[in-house]
Amino acid sequence: MATSSAPGKIYVMGEHAVVYGEPAVLCAVERRARVTVRERSDGGLRVDSEDLTLDGFTIEYGASAGEDTNVDVPEHLLEAATGYVDEAVAQARDAADAPDAGFEVEIHSDIPLGAGLGSSAAVVVAAIDAATRELGVELDREEIADRAYQVEHSVQDGQASRADTFTSTMGGAVRVEGDGGEPIPAPDLPLVVGYDGGAGDTGKLVSGVRELRDRYEFAADTVETIGDLVEEGENVLADGDLDELGELMDVNHGLLSALGVSSRSLDAMVWAARDAGAKGAKLVGAGGGGCIVALDDTDESETALEYTPGCEEAFRAELAEDGVRPE
Ligand code: MEV
Repeated sequence: MATSSAPGKIYVMGEHAVVYGEPAVLCAVERRARVTVRERSDGGLRVDSEDLTLDGFTIEYGASAGEDTNVDVPEHLLEAATGYVDEAVAQARDAADAPDAGFEVEIHSDIPLGAGLGSSAAVVVAAIDAATRELGVELDREEIADRAYQVEHSVQDGQASRADTFTSTMGGAVRVEGDGGEPIPAPDLPLVVGYDGGAGDTGKLVSGVRELRDRYEFAADTVETIGDLVEEGENVLADGDLDELGELMDVNHGLLSALGVSSRSLDAMVWAARDAGAKGAKLVGAGGGGCIVALDDTDESETALEYTPGCEEAFRAELAEDGVRPE
Protein backbone atom coordinates (compact mmCIF):
# COMPACT_ATOMS: atom_id res chain seq x y z
CA MET A 1 0.00 0.00 0.00
CA ALA A 2 1.29 3.51 -0.81
CA THR A 3 -0.23 6.87 0.11
CA SER A 4 0.76 10.23 -1.38
CA SER A 5 -0.65 13.69 -0.99
CA ALA A 6 -0.43 16.79 -3.15
CA PRO A 7 -1.61 20.37 -2.54
CA GLY A 8 -4.15 22.50 -4.33
CA LYS A 9 -3.12 25.84 -5.82
CA ILE A 10 -4.12 29.42 -6.33
CA TYR A 11 -3.33 31.56 -9.33
CA VAL A 12 -1.95 34.81 -7.99
CA MET A 13 -2.28 35.93 -11.62
CA GLY A 14 -2.42 34.60 -15.15
CA GLU A 15 -5.06 31.85 -15.48
CA HIS A 16 -6.53 31.33 -18.98
CA ALA A 17 -3.81 33.42 -20.64
CA VAL A 18 -1.31 30.74 -19.56
CA VAL A 19 -3.03 28.33 -21.99
CA TYR A 20 -1.70 30.55 -24.84
CA GLY A 21 1.89 30.62 -23.60
CA GLU A 22 1.64 33.73 -21.41
CA PRO A 23 3.37 33.56 -17.99
CA ALA A 24 1.48 32.87 -14.76
CA VAL A 25 2.37 32.98 -11.07
CA LEU A 26 0.83 30.46 -8.68
CA CYS A 27 1.10 29.36 -5.05
CA ALA A 28 0.46 25.86 -3.72
CA VAL A 29 -1.92 26.03 -0.76
CA GLU A 30 -2.45 23.83 2.29
CA ARG A 31 -5.53 21.98 1.13
CA ARG A 32 -4.47 18.53 -0.02
CA ALA A 33 -5.67 15.50 -1.93
CA ARG A 34 -4.53 12.19 -0.39
CA VAL A 35 -4.54 9.09 -2.55
CA THR A 36 -3.94 5.55 -1.26
CA VAL A 37 -3.21 2.80 -3.79
CA ARG A 38 -3.08 -0.98 -3.26
CA GLU A 39 -2.07 -3.28 -6.08
CA ARG A 40 -4.56 -6.05 -6.80
CA SER A 41 -3.84 -9.24 -8.64
CA ASP A 42 -6.88 -9.47 -10.99
CA GLY A 43 -5.97 -6.40 -13.10
CA GLY A 44 -9.19 -4.59 -12.10
CA LEU A 45 -9.59 -1.05 -10.85
CA ARG A 46 -11.72 0.14 -7.96
CA VAL A 47 -11.92 3.81 -7.07
CA ASP A 48 -13.36 5.05 -3.77
CA SER A 49 -13.71 8.72 -3.13
CA GLU A 50 -14.80 10.13 0.19
CA ASP A 51 -14.84 13.77 -0.72
CA LEU A 52 -14.27 15.63 -3.99
CA THR A 53 -17.29 17.64 -2.86
CA LEU A 54 -19.29 14.56 -3.71
CA ASP A 55 -21.26 12.52 -1.21
CA GLY A 56 -18.77 9.76 -1.87
CA PHE A 57 -18.60 7.49 -4.84
CA THR A 58 -17.32 4.05 -5.69
CA ILE A 59 -16.68 2.79 -9.17
CA GLU A 60 -15.37 -0.64 -9.99
CA TYR A 61 -14.33 -1.77 -13.42
CA GLY A 62 -11.84 -3.97 -15.22
CA ALA A 63 -11.43 -7.64 -14.36
CA SER A 64 -14.37 -7.83 -11.96
CA ALA A 65 -16.51 -5.30 -13.73
CA GLY A 66 -19.55 -3.74 -12.18
CA GLU A 67 -20.45 -0.22 -11.35
CA ASP A 68 -21.79 1.35 -8.22
CA THR A 69 -21.99 5.09 -8.31
CA ASN A 70 -23.87 6.79 -5.59
CA VAL A 71 -23.57 10.46 -6.20
CA ASP A 72 -25.66 13.50 -6.71
CA VAL A 73 -23.41 15.77 -8.73
CA PRO A 74 -23.40 17.18 -12.25
CA GLU A 75 -22.54 14.44 -14.74
CA HIS A 76 -19.62 16.40 -16.17
CA LEU A 77 -17.94 16.53 -12.76
CA LEU A 78 -18.31 12.81 -12.20
CA GLU A 79 -17.09 12.01 -15.71
CA ALA A 80 -14.14 14.30 -15.25
CA ALA A 81 -13.29 12.87 -11.81
CA THR A 82 -13.27 9.29 -13.11
CA GLY A 83 -11.47 10.32 -16.32
CA TYR A 84 -8.63 11.88 -14.30
CA VAL A 85 -8.20 8.76 -12.15
CA ASP A 86 -8.32 6.41 -15.18
CA GLU A 87 -5.66 8.39 -17.01
CA ALA A 88 -3.46 8.72 -13.91
CA VAL A 89 -3.56 4.94 -13.51
CA ALA A 90 -2.65 4.54 -17.20
CA GLN A 91 0.37 6.82 -16.68
CA ALA A 92 1.48 4.84 -13.62
CA ARG A 93 1.18 1.53 -15.51
CA ASP A 94 3.22 3.00 -18.34
CA ALA A 95 5.91 4.47 -16.06
CA ALA A 96 6.32 1.17 -14.21
CA ASP A 97 6.09 -0.91 -17.41
CA ALA A 98 3.24 -2.87 -15.81
CA PRO A 99 0.39 -2.63 -18.33
CA ASP A 100 -1.78 -5.19 -16.51
CA ALA A 101 -1.44 -3.90 -12.96
CA GLY A 102 -4.75 -3.60 -11.08
CA PHE A 103 -5.40 -1.20 -8.22
CA GLU A 104 -7.66 -0.24 -5.35
CA VAL A 105 -7.59 3.58 -5.23
CA GLU A 106 -8.89 5.60 -2.29
CA ILE A 107 -9.17 9.37 -2.58
CA HIS A 108 -9.62 11.81 0.29
CA SER A 109 -9.55 15.41 -0.76
CA ASP A 110 -10.22 18.61 1.13
CA ILE A 111 -9.98 20.68 -2.07
CA PRO A 112 -13.40 21.59 -3.48
CA LEU A 113 -13.93 19.97 -6.88
CA GLY A 114 -13.89 22.18 -9.97
CA ALA A 115 -13.72 25.34 -7.87
CA GLY A 116 -10.46 26.79 -9.17
CA LEU A 117 -8.15 25.40 -6.48
CA GLY A 118 -6.59 22.66 -8.61
CA SER A 119 -8.47 19.66 -7.19
CA SER A 120 -8.05 17.48 -10.27
CA ALA A 121 -4.34 18.27 -10.63
CA ALA A 122 -3.73 17.40 -6.95
CA VAL A 123 -5.59 14.08 -7.26
CA VAL A 124 -3.73 13.18 -10.46
CA VAL A 125 -0.30 14.12 -9.08
CA ALA A 126 -0.85 12.19 -5.82
CA ALA A 127 -2.34 9.20 -7.70
CA ILE A 128 0.62 8.91 -10.09
CA ASP A 129 3.10 9.14 -7.23
CA ALA A 130 1.28 6.60 -5.03
CA ALA A 131 0.59 4.12 -7.85
CA THR A 132 4.15 4.13 -9.18
CA ARG A 133 5.59 3.76 -5.66
CA GLU A 134 3.17 0.85 -5.08
CA LEU A 135 4.70 -0.75 -8.19
CA GLY A 136 8.21 -0.18 -6.81
CA VAL A 137 9.17 2.76 -9.05
CA GLU A 138 10.26 6.21 -7.76
CA LEU A 139 9.66 8.96 -10.33
CA ASP A 140 11.43 12.30 -10.01
CA ARG A 141 9.21 15.34 -9.61
CA GLU A 142 9.77 16.56 -13.19
CA GLU A 143 8.43 13.26 -14.52
CA ILE A 144 5.45 13.27 -12.15
CA ALA A 145 4.59 16.83 -13.25
CA ASP A 146 4.95 15.91 -16.90
CA ARG A 147 2.84 12.75 -16.65
CA ALA A 148 0.18 14.60 -14.64
CA TYR A 149 0.07 17.28 -17.33
CA GLN A 150 -0.43 14.56 -20.00
CA VAL A 151 -3.46 13.38 -17.98
CA GLU A 152 -5.03 16.86 -17.80
CA HIS A 153 -4.27 17.47 -21.45
CA SER A 154 -6.05 14.30 -22.48
CA VAL A 155 -9.06 14.59 -20.12
CA GLN A 156 -9.55 18.29 -20.98
CA ASP A 157 -9.35 17.66 -24.75
CA GLY A 158 -6.04 19.42 -25.13
CA GLN A 159 -7.25 22.50 -23.22
CA ALA A 160 -4.75 22.51 -20.37
CA SER A 161 -1.58 24.27 -19.38
CA ARG A 162 1.18 22.80 -17.22
CA ALA A 163 0.49 25.31 -14.46
CA ASP A 164 -1.82 23.35 -12.10
CA THR A 165 0.06 20.05 -12.24
CA PHE A 166 3.49 21.72 -11.99
CA THR A 167 2.48 23.75 -8.91
CA SER A 168 0.85 20.78 -7.19
CA THR A 169 3.96 18.64 -7.78
CA MET A 170 6.55 21.23 -6.72
CA GLY A 171 4.73 23.12 -3.95
CA GLY A 172 5.71 26.65 -2.91
CA ALA A 173 5.36 29.52 -5.36
CA VAL A 174 6.06 28.96 -9.03
CA ARG A 175 6.21 30.75 -12.34
CA VAL A 176 4.96 28.89 -15.41
CA GLU A 177 5.35 29.86 -19.04
CA GLY A 178 4.76 27.57 -22.02
CA ASP A 179 6.42 24.21 -21.38
CA GLY A 180 8.64 25.60 -18.63
CA GLY A 181 8.08 26.13 -14.93
CA GLU A 182 10.34 27.19 -12.09
CA PRO A 183 10.01 27.67 -8.34
CA ILE A 184 10.25 31.33 -7.32
CA PRO A 185 11.07 32.68 -3.85
CA ALA A 186 7.90 31.98 -1.86
CA PRO A 187 6.33 35.25 -0.78
CA ASP A 188 4.29 35.05 2.41
CA LEU A 189 1.07 36.36 0.88
CA PRO A 190 -1.97 36.99 3.10
CA LEU A 191 -4.47 35.13 0.90
CA VAL A 192 -8.14 34.69 1.79
CA VAL A 193 -10.37 32.40 -0.26
CA GLY A 194 -14.12 32.79 -0.76
CA TYR A 195 -15.95 29.73 -2.11
CA ASP A 196 -19.51 29.90 -3.52
CA GLY A 197 -20.07 26.15 -3.22
CA GLY A 198 -20.24 25.80 -6.99
CA ALA A 199 -17.98 24.72 -9.80
CA GLY A 200 -17.15 25.75 -13.34
CA ASP A 201 -16.65 23.43 -16.31
CA THR A 202 -12.96 24.03 -17.10
CA GLY A 203 -13.13 22.52 -20.60
CA LYS A 204 -16.11 24.70 -21.60
CA LEU A 205 -14.67 27.86 -20.06
CA VAL A 206 -11.32 27.39 -21.78
CA SER A 207 -13.10 26.75 -25.12
CA GLY A 208 -15.21 29.86 -24.57
CA VAL A 209 -12.10 32.01 -24.19
CA ARG A 210 -10.56 30.35 -27.25
CA GLU A 211 -13.64 31.14 -29.38
CA LEU A 212 -13.71 34.75 -28.19
CA ARG A 213 -10.00 35.08 -28.87
CA ASP A 214 -10.42 33.65 -32.39
CA ARG A 215 -13.35 35.99 -33.11
CA TYR A 216 -12.27 39.30 -31.65
CA GLU A 217 -8.96 41.06 -31.66
CA PHE A 218 -9.84 42.70 -28.32
CA ALA A 219 -9.96 39.25 -26.72
CA ALA A 220 -6.56 38.26 -28.17
CA ASP A 221 -5.21 41.60 -26.87
CA THR A 222 -6.78 40.93 -23.46
CA VAL A 223 -4.98 37.59 -23.23
CA GLU A 224 -1.68 39.31 -24.05
CA THR A 225 -2.41 42.07 -21.55
CA ILE A 226 -2.86 39.46 -18.81
CA GLY A 227 0.65 38.23 -19.70
CA ASP A 228 2.02 41.80 -19.37
CA LEU A 229 0.24 42.15 -16.04
CA VAL A 230 1.87 38.96 -14.75
CA GLU A 231 5.32 40.28 -15.72
CA GLU A 232 4.58 43.49 -13.86
CA GLY A 233 3.29 41.41 -10.93
CA GLU A 234 6.53 39.43 -10.74
CA ASN A 235 8.53 42.64 -10.16
CA VAL A 236 6.03 43.77 -7.58
CA LEU A 237 6.20 40.40 -5.80
CA ALA A 238 9.98 40.58 -5.74
CA ASP A 239 9.72 44.05 -4.10
CA GLY A 240 7.08 42.73 -1.66
CA ASP A 241 4.71 45.61 -2.44
CA LEU A 242 1.33 44.12 -1.46
CA ASP A 243 -0.66 47.28 -2.25
CA GLU A 244 0.49 47.26 -5.84
CA LEU A 245 0.07 43.49 -6.13
CA GLY A 246 -3.54 43.90 -4.96
CA GLU A 247 -4.12 46.58 -7.59
CA LEU A 248 -2.82 44.25 -10.31
CA MET A 249 -5.03 41.42 -9.03
CA ASP A 250 -8.05 43.73 -9.36
CA VAL A 251 -7.10 44.48 -12.96
CA ASN A 252 -6.58 40.77 -13.63
CA HIS A 253 -10.13 40.09 -12.42
CA GLY A 254 -11.49 42.78 -14.74
CA LEU A 255 -9.67 41.27 -17.72
CA LEU A 256 -10.94 37.77 -16.85
CA SER A 257 -14.48 39.21 -16.66
CA ALA A 258 -13.99 40.72 -20.12
CA LEU A 259 -13.15 37.21 -21.34
CA GLY A 260 -16.49 36.00 -19.97
CA VAL A 261 -15.29 33.70 -17.18
CA SER A 262 -16.60 35.50 -14.10
CA SER A 263 -20.06 34.97 -12.60
CA ARG A 264 -22.51 36.81 -10.40
CA SER A 265 -21.37 35.02 -7.23
CA LEU A 266 -17.67 35.42 -8.03
CA ASP A 267 -18.20 39.15 -8.65
CA ALA A 268 -20.22 39.46 -5.42
CA MET A 269 -17.42 37.87 -3.40
CA VAL A 270 -14.74 39.97 -5.12
CA TRP A 271 -16.66 43.15 -4.27
CA ALA A 272 -17.39 42.04 -0.69
CA ALA A 273 -13.65 41.57 -0.11
CA ARG A 274 -12.75 44.89 -1.76
CA ASP A 275 -15.42 46.75 0.24
CA ALA A 276 -13.99 45.19 3.41
CA GLY A 277 -10.61 46.72 2.62
CA ALA A 278 -8.79 43.92 0.77
CA LYS A 279 -5.78 45.16 -1.17
CA GLY A 280 -7.16 43.32 -4.19
CA ALA A 281 -9.40 40.42 -5.17
CA LYS A 282 -9.92 38.21 -8.21
CA LEU A 283 -11.48 34.96 -9.30
CA VAL A 284 -9.11 31.99 -9.38
CA GLY A 285 -8.75 29.17 -11.89
CA ALA A 286 -11.16 28.54 -14.73
CA GLY A 287 -13.98 30.66 -13.22
CA GLY A 288 -17.70 30.28 -13.95
CA GLY A 289 -18.22 29.63 -10.20
CA GLY A 290 -16.08 28.33 -7.38
CA CYS A 291 -13.46 30.47 -5.64
CA ILE A 292 -12.06 33.97 -5.44
CA VAL A 293 -8.90 35.05 -3.67
CA ALA A 294 -8.43 38.29 -1.78
CA LEU A 295 -5.18 39.82 -0.57
CA ASP A 296 -5.77 40.95 3.01
CA ASP A 297 -3.55 40.88 6.08
CA THR A 298 -6.48 41.72 8.38
CA ASP A 299 -9.51 39.53 9.26
CA GLU A 300 -11.91 41.92 7.51
CA SER A 301 -12.27 40.19 4.13
CA GLU A 302 -12.76 36.77 5.69
CA THR A 303 -15.49 38.13 7.99
CA ALA A 304 -17.17 40.05 5.16
CA LEU A 305 -17.12 36.98 2.91
CA GLU A 306 -18.68 34.85 5.66
CA TYR A 307 -21.67 37.23 5.61
CA THR A 308 -21.89 37.56 1.83
CA PRO A 309 -24.96 35.90 0.31
CA GLY A 310 -23.68 33.32 -2.14
CA CYS A 311 -20.43 32.67 -0.26
CA GLU A 312 -20.53 29.23 1.32
CA GLU A 313 -17.12 29.19 2.96
CA ALA A 314 -14.27 31.62 3.57
CA PHE A 315 -10.83 30.62 4.79
CA ARG A 316 -7.24 31.78 4.91
CA ALA A 317 -5.02 29.92 2.44
CA GLU A 318 -1.57 29.13 3.80
CA LEU A 319 1.26 28.50 1.38
CA ALA A 320 2.06 24.77 1.03
CA GLU A 321 5.84 24.48 1.04
CA ASP A 322 5.69 20.79 0.15
CA GLY A 323 4.41 19.62 -3.20
CA VAL A 324 3.71 15.93 -3.70
CA ARG A 325 4.93 13.80 -0.81
CA PRO A 326 4.58 10.29 0.56
CA GLU A 327 2.31 10.07 3.60
C1 MEV B 1 -7.57 26.16 -14.58
O1 MEV B 1 -7.22 25.93 -13.20
C2 MEV B 1 -6.65 27.17 -15.18
C3 MEV B 1 -6.83 27.44 -16.67
O2 MEV B 1 -5.82 28.41 -17.01
C4 MEV B 1 -6.68 26.21 -17.52
C5 MEV B 1 -5.26 25.65 -17.50
O3 MEV B 1 -4.30 26.38 -17.25
O4 MEV B 1 -5.13 24.43 -17.77
C6 MEV B 1 -8.18 28.08 -16.95
